Amino acid sequence: MELFELSSLDLIGKSGWKRGLQLVPSYRTGFFVVKYKYMDNSKVKTDLMEKIVALAKRRGFVYPTSEIYGGLSNSYDYGPAGAELLRNIRNLWWKEFINSREDMVGLDTQIILHPETWVASGHVSGFNDPMVEDIKTHKRYRADHIIENYLHEAPIKLAKDQDLTKEKLKELLEKYEKIIVENMNLDEMNDFIKENKIKSPDDNDLSEVKAFNQLFETAIGVVSGEKSKVYLRGETAQGIFTNFKQVLDSSRVKLPFGIGQIGKSFRNEITTGQFIFRTLELEQAEIEYFFDPEKEDWEKLFKKWQEDMMHFVNETLGVSKDNLRWRRHTDKERSFYSKDTYDLDYNYPFGWKELWGIAYRTDYDLKQHMEHSGQSLEYIDPTTGRKFIPHVIEPAVGVGRLFLITLLDAYYEDGDRVVLKLNPRVAPYKVAIFPLLANKPELVSKAKELFNSLKSQFNVVWDDRGNIGKRYFAQDEIGTPWCVTVDFDTLEDNTVTVRDRDTAKQERISIDKLSEYFQNKLV
Ligand code: GAP
Repeated sequence: MELFELSSLDLIGKSGWKRGLQLVPSYRTGFFVVKYKYMDNSKVKTDLMEKIVALAKRRGFVYPTSEIYGGLSNSYDYGPAGAELLRNIRNLWWKEFINSREDMVGLDTQIILHPETWVASGHVSGFNDPMVEDIKTHKRYRADHIIENYLHEAPIKLAKDQDLTKEKLKELLEKYEKIIVENMNLDEMNDFIKENKIKSPDDNDLSEVKAFNQLFETAIGVVSGEKSKVYLRGETAQGIFTNFKQVLDSSRVKLPFGIGQIGKSFRNEITTGQFIFRTLELEQAEIEYFFDPEKEDWEKLFKKWQEDMMHFVNETLGVSKDNLRWRRHTDKERSFYSKDTYDLDYNYPFGWKELWGIAYRTDYDLKQHMEHSGQSLEYIDPTTGRKFIPHVIEPAVGVGRLFLITLLDAYYEDGDRVVLKLNPRVAPYKVAIFPLLANKPELVSKAKELFNSLKSQFNVVWDDRGNIGKRYFAQDEIGTPWCVTVDFDTLEDNTVTVRDRDTAKQERISIDKLSEYFQNKLV
């Protein structure tokens, strides 16, 4: 069977990593489309990921952790430009969701909480990934990912190996299309792997599917054992629930109100090789929005939070709406305590995947902590005196994923020129200052004077290496919106050249007007 025959089928499979030449992700649906003519697009997208990873390392956004020791799986460090970008995203999130709202307060809780927290929350018993092991190499894989890959690849492989007719292949694709891996329990995954004789990526048999708990364990004090066992937090949310009463008692909040926090969480992830999309150490920005279910319409609150999330990604970070979509969790996929859950998905080079989740968790968490701690976490309505446990809506996002989509969406090539068209508000540096020539003290001193006067207002960066062209090239790659050059005319008329990153146009501006010029652009 020839590849070109497949193009006429126009059938769709589920999204995921691109594997094999014939399966390519559709940008619109997030599904894999069996169309040969889509090859070019997929190549562009695969290249994009490689280019972003290379740019991130080359320009100091993201480095592999402990690289001198060979690296550590699913672990990355943020370099000088990355640390600035990350900080900007964090600060914008905090400003938009905490400081600019009357109904929100912030919190900063510990990474190591009382271990009973994780028993109450259900993480000790239920924070599991389905795992299989290659029985020869002992490499571990997510069983759901193994099945997803099989569903993508099997029809094409079967079509090639067994020379299927077009109709048979269509039938097979339609059958696989109906299988929703998110809905499978461990036994169903096990049966599917066995029935279809699915092998590991190294072509060996796979073990039974087991539940693998993602919580990292550690110990307090010198004696290890059950008594000293503690966990690195698996989500920042539980620190919010356990402090709910203290926030009520120590601040002026009244329902409906939310508590937000940004901080590190830890998950023992099995899947490797997804850059900063899936990491062991992750930074979360989570909100628990508490309300009275008798007074508020949860669906209205939920919708408003969805709009606010979309606003942050689209307007504040500047990510295109074309690359964003909402996906509702299926009944089987949703946690038993959640009444509704949606993911805001991004169209990554490896398919549509979760960026930001929002769930209506009812009163589940506060109830659990009441039971396990024996403390009342009820709210007393100040007007009626009614006592009840508030319900909660939870928008939860990984800051690393916001960082990744910001880079992906901003990447732009103009011939040889690579530009990160970042929204100036998120750009690591707002202005780069150059003396035209590094060996002319009068230019260097004037440029330094300008640098010092602007640095208290904007994040400015100094560059006097190489020629002006090379400096523009480097600043474009880290997304600096404006470059300012001090030249010999500056010494005469106090004007500088300001060059715009996106248009590459240059204009002459008086130094006295520079601050106002940038302020206006950054509004
Ligand atoms: N409190 C709810 C909660 O933690 P989640 O869907 O497991 O829900 C929330 O995580 C967000 O955290 C996700 O939408 C994603 O952005 C991010 N996230 C989760 N696991 C991650 C990982 N291993 N690496 C990077 N980000 C992750």
